[in-house]
Formats: sequence, C-alpha cells, structure tokens
Amino acid sequence: MKSSLSSLRNTPQKSARNSAPASVPLPVPLLDLRRQYEGIREDVLAAIERVCDSQGFILGPEVEALEHEIAALTGAAGAVGCASGTEALWLALVAAGVKPGDSVITTAFSFFASASAIVRAGATPVFVDVDPGTLNLDAALVDRRIRTQRPANLRAILPVHLYGQCADMDAFDRIVTEHAQEFGVAIVEDAAQAIGAEWRGRGAGSLGVTAAFSFYPTKNLSAYGDAGIVTTTRPEMAEHMRQLRNHGSPRRYYHHEFGWNGRMDAIQAAVLRVKLTHIADWNRSRQKHAATYDQLLAGAGLTSRHPFDQSGVPVRVLARSPEAKHVFHQYVIRAQRRDDLRKFLAERKIGSEIYYPLPLHLQPVFSYLGLKAGDMPVSEQAAQEVLALPMFPELTEAEIRCVVESIADFYS
Ligand SMILES: Cc1ncc(COP(=O)(O)O)c(C=O)c1O
Repeated sequence: MKSSLSSLRNTPQKSARNSAPASVPLPVPLLDLRRQYEGIREDVLAAIERVCDSQGFILGPEVEALEHEIAALTGAAGAVGCASGTEALWLALVAAGVKPGDSVITTAFSFFASASAIVRAGATPVFVDVDPGTLNLDAALVDRRIRTQRPANLRAILPVHLYGQCADMDAFDRIVTEHAQEFGVAIVEDAAQAIGAEWRGRGAGSLGVTAAFSFYPTKNLSAYGDAGIVTTTRPEMAEHMRQLRNHGSPRRYYHHEFGWNGRMDAIQAAVLRVKLTHIADWNRSRQKHAATYDQLLAGAGLTSRHPFDQSGVPVRVLARSPEAKHVFHQYVIRAQRRDDLRKFLAERKIGSEIYYPLPLHLQPVFSYLGLKAGDMPVSEQAAQEVLALPMFPELTEAEIRCVVESIADFYS
C-alpha cells in the first residue's frame, strides 16, 4: 500500500498525545471521556452541587431549563426530558399516535432500541433496507414498500440519523405528503446519535412530528448516567409526553392513561446543561477530525477519491449527503477483512467498534416477523464491513495519523 503517511513519521515530537514516534504507535482509545472531564470538571461539580443543595432530584427547574435549551437548539416547539433515549423513542411513538395493532416502518440497520420501542408501543416494526452510500433508511425502498405492499395500519415512519447524519428527510416528507398523509402517517426521528445535526439548515429533532435523543455517556452530548429527551414540533404533544413520562398523570395521583416512570434526574439535566454550552464546538471538532481522516485515508491510497469508483481500494468511507450537517457521532469506514483489521488495531491498542454486527431483521427476538438472511442485503453486507474508528472532540491529529498509519500497515 502506497503511503504518503511515511513522511509524517519524521515529524518532530512534542508530547505523546500530539505526536507519535515512528516505530511505537500511540494507543488510541475509541472514546476518552476523561479528557472532556478535565476541561469542564469545575463547572460539572458546581452544577451537581447546585442540585444537591436544592435537594430536588427528579424533574424540577434543571430539567425544565434543559428542555427549553434543547428545544431552542433543535428548533422544536417543545422538549420533554426523560430517563433514556429508549424511553424517548417510546414517548415519541405513543405521542405520534402509534398504538397496539399499528405498523411502523424503520431501518434494518440500527441499534436495537429503534425497533424495540416500536414493539413496546404495541406495534409491529416493518424493516426496510438502507441506502448503500449513507446506510440510512432508504427512502426509495420505503416508498416502494408502501406502494406495493402497504403494511397494515401504517402509523409512522421512523428514520434513524445513523452515526450523526440525517436521513433523507426531503424524501420522507415527500412520501408522507404524496401518499401517506391521508392515512395519518407521522415521521418520528430517531435522533439518538444526532444532537446538533441538520438537514437543509433545520435541526434534527424538528424534522418530523416527534424525535428522540439519547444522552447515554458515549453520545455527542452525554449525561453522567442514563438520560434522554424527546422533542416535538407540536406543542400539544409535548404536554401529552409530560404526562406519559409520569405514569400518565396530568395531576398527582390521577391517571388518565397508562404511562410509565420515565422521568429525568435533575443531576443529569444539570450536567447536560454544562455540556450543552460546548456542544457546537465539540461537534465542530468532530467534523474537523472526520475531514482529517478523509484526507489521510485518501492520501495513503486506502480509499478512492472517486465516489463512483471504489474498486481496488480496501476501505470505503460512507457517503455524505450535501443537505446534511453531519455531526460524526461515529466515523465509520467499510473495510475489507474487517475483523482481521479490528484485531490488528486492537493489538496496537487502537480502539474500534462495530455498529452493528447483526441487522435488526436477523435478531433472534424478531424471528416472529419471518424475515431471513438475504432479505435486507445492504444491511447484511454493511454488518460485515463497518468499523467505527476513534472519534471524540479531544482526539489529536497525531492520534488520527496513528490510526490511519496502522490501517495502512495492515493492508501493506
Ligand atoms: C440509534 C439509537 N437509538 C436509540 C438509542 C437508545 O438510547 P439509550 O441508550 O439512551 O436508551 C441509541 C443509543 O444507544 C441509539 O444509538
């Protein structure tokens, strides 16, 4: 493998993290939250202390303030803090009108919760394959499925903004407008990986009727435990979700429907509010790192610079939609001999992860749907090839070089 990285090996050394010695590759973690903590430690501890001093631990002013701040960031009409991204998905689906006996179309290639939340709402997930370039739900296939084999009681379409890049929301809007509106089909976004992402300048979270975000500790905006939020473009739905997250209760000890305990802790909200002031910078850093990866991978001859000719290269990067502002929750490559590459990187203490090794339609728990291998070929192929490389705002350029250099060594 030709490597323009060799010249980098001679770069003068500064510190371990900022420049790697030629022969000893730097260990590079997939994610290092400690580096983030170093920069915000005092503010986080002050926020936690504020909650402890108030002795108000669930919902309350911190959660309300966070809800306003997230609504403003996403451009949504309202936001409702809750216990996790999974809970947010359930709230989003139920508020959008999904009920037992309904169907919801979603992607075959996502985290399990995108589909299990549909089941928890009493509905049936209808899996559709993904676009081979972006690996987001393929709108053309969704359109075809609705035209040729319309799922019974189709109530919602749930695209996932995978890895931090919005799905093709123009196409989903068109589908809903053209031939789904009369049946009352809603778009529910799974924006768990996409805080700060945009589609044509509009924020993820304001692109459908409702949207779910996760603040799981690995996410771009992350709590110090589990937390999530659901946004909506319809204010009346926000009120409904507030009740649903609190046992379906509009008034203490009066219950109008079956909700659940899905409330957000005040400590999580307080931590998230500190981090929210940094999210724009952090997302910009991720974009910069992605551009560095792109450039170094292409420079090393590992990827092709031609979007339509990827032959003869061992690595492919995912397609970027020009309409999308991608926030690179993950930087994912598609690699030949992926599992061997992963082992090779692990030996050099370079972190990587597979999101996701088994598509949803092949998960044993969904066997009742009667789907089989070969039904979603693009997702199945992706599951064999995808590899997420180290990505977090504090990652250094030297670390990225080290990762790319190691990939080049593997294929040389
Ligand atoms: C696409 C997607 N949907 C839903 C979730 C669920 O979020 P949580 O783990 O906060 O419940 C996640 C988080 O891993 C996710 O990545």
